[in-house]
Amino acid sequence: MKNNLCTVFLAGDVCASVGVRAVTNLLPKLIERESIDFCVINGENATGGIGLSSGDAEAILAAGADVITGGNHSFEKRDHWPVLDVNPAVLRPANFPSRGLTAEESLPGHGMGIYEKNGHTFAVFNVQGREDMTALDCPFVYMRTALETLSLKDSGAMILVDFHAESTQEKEAFALMLDGKVSVVAGTHTHVQTADERVLPGGTAYITDLGMTGPWRSVIGSAPEISIKRNITQVLYRMEAAEGAGALRGLLVYIDPETRKAISVRRVEVIEETV
Ligand SMILES: [Fe+2]
Ligand SMILES: [Fe+2]
Repeated sequence: MKNNLCTVFLAGDVCASVGVRAVTNLLPKLIERESIDFCVINGENATGGIGLSSGDAEAILAAGADVITGGNHSFEKRDHWPVLDVNPAVLRPANFPSRGLTAEESLPGHGMGIYEKNGHTFAVFNVQGREDMTALDCPFVYMRTALETLSLKDSGAMILVDFHAESTQEKEAFALMLDGKVSVVAGTHTHVQTADERVLPGGTAYITDLGMTGPWRSVIGSAPEISIKRNITQVLYRMEAAEGAGALRGLLVYIDPETRKAISVRRVEVIEETV
């Protein structure tokens, strides 16, 4: 890639201890090999498959992530709430209810942040979809309003959006609405990497899902044997994280910092050789 382009890497949901280990083992080498300027990783499943502890957040940041995004599991464990307020590098979906809440009902953390690195400014948004998910505030209206209100166009920031959503149509509609207005829309949540990575006509890089960072032999991160039994019996046996070699999955995006438009993308899957 040309030297004057900015290289951003986004990775999908880090799943349990194998996922955190895969990030620790694989991310530093990838950052070096690909000369990555900025790295966003979704960590909503990092701690035992549900949520993100401060210890796991530290491990992912130490491996080279600049920002950790969240999702529907961000608020599931009360123990994980403090990291959302303490560490500005840890985000959670922006469109959880906020208006009209009492102080006691208000949720911790932030759904966007602005970060400076390697002479560039990055604005990162974490937004969650609604189809087949919890009925949060409208992600489309949230994002449209945020872009108008924050005058981000004038800030010179490259805008990177993690859209944590189940529905492929919702993800494509969201990305097309934002085409030309942000540098990247990367889907997370389904844990299955899609092969539709592309630069949209207006210059926004897009992939429906970055894929899961975690155990390679698994059912979206869980032990296959239990998942198979659950499907056959229709009994909800307790899920366990799978073991074995981990995969790091995501997308490299090459952005022209002058125009903030994506020039090209490359999908990434790297697998641990030995465990
Ligand atoms: Fe999720
Ligand atoms: Fe997830």
